[in-house]
Amino acid sequence: MQGNDPERTKPMEKWECTVCGYIYDPAKGDPDNGVVPGTRFEDIPDTWVCPECGVTKDNFRKLA
Ligand SMILES: [Fe+2]
Repeated sequence: MQGNDPERTKPMEKWECTVCGYIYDPAKGDPDNGVVPGTRFEDIPDTWVCPECGVTKDNFRKLA
């Protein structure tokens, strides 16, 4: 892995689905749905939906 890419040095925040409580962890991604580990929430395609309840990204909030 390259260590000098500024995109990779940004903190990777977890996001929570406000509908079902699913936590998106960038370190794990969502490989079952085509999101590779290391993908920040902001970089997930807008077509992605919560793997637990199926709502869109709009329904997620960033965890402090
Ligand atoms: Fe959900």
